[in-house]
Amino acid sequence: MSTGLIIAVVVIAAVVFGAIVVMTTARSTDVRGAGALSRETRASDRKAKVGTTATTGREVELAARTTDIVKAAPAEIAPFVAPDAEAVGVSRRMFFNRTAITLMGASVGAFGASAVAFLWKGADGGFGSKINAGRLDDIIANIKANDGFLYLAEARAWVTEYPKGALGKAQAVYGSQAPVFTGMQAGVVALYQKCPHLGCRVPDCKSSQWFECQCHGSQYNRVGEQKGGPAPRGMDRFGVSVANGQLTIDTGAVFAGPSLGTNTTGQEAEGPHCVGAGGH
Ligand code: FES
Repeated sequence: MSTGLIIAVVVIAAVVFGAIVVMTTARSTDVRGAGALSRETRASDRKAKVGTTATTGREVELAARTTDIVKAAPAEIAPFVAPDAEAVGVSRRMFFNRTAITLMGASVGAFGASAVAFLWKGADGGFGSKINAGRLDDIIANIKANDGFLYLAEARAWVTEYPKGALGKAQAVYGSQAPVFTGMQAGVVALYQKCPHLGCRVPDCKSSQWFECQCHGSQYNRVGEQKGGPAPRGMDRFGVSVANGQLTIDTGAVFAGPSLGTNTTGQEAEGPHCVGAGGH
């Protein structure tokens, strides 16, 4: 398309657009704005009688001032009668309100009950309370049957035998922890499963007959005295009591494990280690 043709098209388009604008503007002046009344309508309005003979604004105003105002008779107010609740029924809003309140109440109640059950450790006889582990004779038999280690999940504890021949040394180390020493005198120790290093659950190692923590390699002999690794002390432990042949483990109090270097039983590794080389 040549330049001249383009210019011609643009000029024609401009002329057409200008014509449209002119025609539209001229027509809008005839309308005289929205709400304009026709001549016939205005003539009809002048003849109309609107409750008075006045035709001018002044006459209408004067007539309004001089005309008596007739007061309306007081309306009779009907006495209030409460609706029948059953007839009215439960609205949708009431239904949702009651449902929301009921659910909220149930949730708060369940949460409260759970919180109390969690915080009140001794309420259900679980960890944190005194746990009846069974007959002492059976406990010792089970320890032997399990190659030297007995795990009690409810107490979160390992129970192992304490050699009677080591009680002399134990007296000096554990004498201040009477409930722990009582257990040793009865022939057992109840060791908290939680590693004193960073809290991993310490497993037994049947081959070495030690406890060997797989998290960072801390090792403890069979009565929980530290033998190697980063743990700052021996395994923590629980006090026990024996009554009528029944062994009770009190998991409500944790006694700190013995300090590094404690070795009352002299037990060395009895086989390959499960973690690392063993020893300091
Ligand atoms: S948690 Fe047991 S050695 Fe680190």
